[in-house]
Amino acid sequence: MVASLRLSLAAAAAAAALAVAVALLLPPLAAAQGETTCPADVPRRGAWMSVASFGGVGDGRALNTAAFARAVARIERRRARGGALLYVPAGVWLTGPFNLTSHMTLFLARGAVIRATQDTSSWPLIDPLPSYGRGRELPGGRYMSLIHGDGLQDVFITGENGTIDGQGSVWWDMWRKRTLPFTRPHLLEVISSTDVIISNVVFQDSPFWNIHPVYCSNVVITNVTVLAPHDSPNTDGIDPDSSSNVCIEDSYISTGDDLISIKSGWDEYGIAFGRPSSGITIRRITGSGPFAGFAVGSETSGGVENVHVEHLNFFGMGVGIHVKTNSGRGGFIRNITVSEVTLNGARYGLRIAGDVGGHPDASYDPSKLPVVDGVTIKNVWGQNIRQAGLVRGIRDSVFSRICLSNVKLYGGDSVGPWKCRAVSGGALDVQPSPCAELTSTSEMSFCTN
Ligand SMILES: *[C@@H]1O[C@H](CO)[C@@H](O)[C@H](O)[C@H]1NC(C)=O
Ligand SMILES: *[C@@H]1O[C@H](CO)[C@@H](O)[C@H](O)[C@H]1NC(C)=O
Ligand SMILES: *[C@@H]1O[C@H](CO)[C@@H](O)[C@H](O)[C@H]1NC(C)=O
Ligand SMILES: *[C@@H]1O[C@H](CO)[C@@H](O)[C@H](O)[C@H]1NC(C)=O
Repeated sequence: MVASLRLSLAAAAAAAALAVAVALLLPPLAAAQGETTCPADVPRRGAWMSVASFGGVGDGRALNTAAFARAVARIERRRARGGALLYVPAGVWLTGPFNLTSHMTLFLARGAVIRATQDTSSWPLIDPLPSYGRGRELPGGRYMSLIHGDGLQDVFITGENGTIDGQGSVWWDMWRKRTLPFTRPHLLEVISSTDVIISNVVFQDSPFWNIHPVYCSNVVITNVTVLAPHDSPNTDGIDPDSSSNVCIEDSYISTGDDLISIKSGWDEYGIAFGRPSSGITIRRITGSGPFAGFAVGSETSGGVENVHVEHLNFFGMGVGIHVKTNSGRGGFIRNITVSEVTLNGARYGLRIAGDVGGHPDASYDPSKLPVVDGVTIKNVWGQNIRQAGLVRGIRDSVFSRICLSNVKLYGGDSVGPWKCRAVSGGALDVQPSPCAELTSTSEMSFCTN
C-alpha cells in the first residue's frame, strides 16, 4: 500500500506521508480483541497532498478558506482515480466554511487544528433541510457548517487526534443577546451521503450541534472526542438524523446539550419528507452534560426504529436517557433497546415523554400523534440520582411495550418516585419501585425475553 502512495515528495513531506501510510496500515478502527466494533472498510487513497501546498499557512492568523477549497477541487478532479488524502499538518489552520468531496480523506495530524474564523458576517447561507422546513432555531435559511458535505460517497475524516475548533463563543453570545439573524452552523454536517467514517478527531466548541449526519447511510463515528462548555447553548454532540445504518462507538462527549440524539425531522415537514432513522448502533460512550446522555428526539417525525445502545457511562447529567416526542410530531419511535448503563449524578435517571419540544410554525397538525412502541431499558445502575424519572405517554396514543428491567437508581437521601401516565408495559427489578402502570399490565413476556 505504501507503494500505491505517491512518494515523489520533498523530504519533509515524505516523512509525513510515511506517517500517514503507517497510520492507514494500522487498522484504526480495531479495538481490543473480542469487542464488537462498527463495521467499516477503511478507504485506501491513491494520492496524498498537504493543505500547505495549496497556499495554506498554519499560523493561526492567515485565512485558509481558499486553500481548502483549492485542495478539495483538486481531489474532486481525481475522483475517477480513487480520490486523495488531504493532510493537515501540525499548526493552527484558520478557515471559513468549506465543502468536502467524494473519495476524500481529511487527515488531521497530531497538533493540527482546523479553526473556524469568528468573522460570522462572511459565513455562507444555505437552504433549510426539507425535513425541517426552516432553520432549526430561526425561520429561513441557515449558516453552512464549518466542514460540509452534500451528496457524497466515501468520505473519511480522521487523523492523530487533531482538533476541529468551531470557536463557537461568538455564536453563543449572539444567541444569548438575541442578535442571530439565522440558525447557527454545525461544526460538521454531512447531507445525503454514503460511506462516511469519522474517527480519531477532537470536535470542540461548535457554534450549534457538533456532528450532524442527515439523510445518510453507512456512517461510522468512532474514537472521537466532542467538547463544549456545559453552558454553551444547543451544542449537541452527535445527532444522526433521518439516517440509516449508523454506528457510533468508543467516544467521549461533554457538551452543553444532549450528548447523542437520534432525530428524523420536524412536524409537518418531517412527516411529508418521511425519512426515518433506522439501524443505529451506539456503544461505549462516556460523557457528561446538563441535558441527556442518550436521547431520541424530540424531532422524530420521519420515525426512529431499530436502535441498539449499550455500555453507556454518564456522570453529572441532566437526564440519563431521554426519549422525547410531542403531539404534532407524528412518526414513530419503536424497537429501541438501551442496556448496560452506569449513571453517576443526574436530575432524572430516565424520561420517556410525549410533551417535549416546540413546533416549527402554526401549520403543524396537533392531531398527528407519534406512536411509541417497544422501548426496552435494562441493566441500568445509577447513583446520586434525584428523580427516578417518568414515563408519560399521550392520552390518545398510549406508549406501549415500555420495558424497564433491572433498573436501579439510588440517591443521597431518597430518590424521587417514578411518574407514569398513558403507558403500558412491564417493569422487573426496578428501584425505586415502579409505577402501577408498568406492573399491572399483561405485557411482561415482552419484558422478560
Ligand atoms: C459547497 O458546494 C455547494 C454545492 O454542493 C455550492 O453550491 C457551494 O457554493 C459550495 N460552498 C463553498 C463555500 O464552497
Ligand atoms: C483513538 O485515537 C487515538 C488518538 O487519535 C489513537 O492514539 C488511538 O490509536 C485510536 N484508537 C483506535 C482504536 O483507533
Ligand atoms: C485527544 O485529545 C483530547 C482533547 O485534548 C484528549 O482529551 C484525549 O486524551 C486525546 N486522546 C489521545 C489518545 O491522545
Ligand atoms: C429491532 O432492532 C434490532 C437492531 O437494534 C434488529 O436487529 C431487529 O431485527 C429489530 N426487530 C424488529 C422486529 O424489527
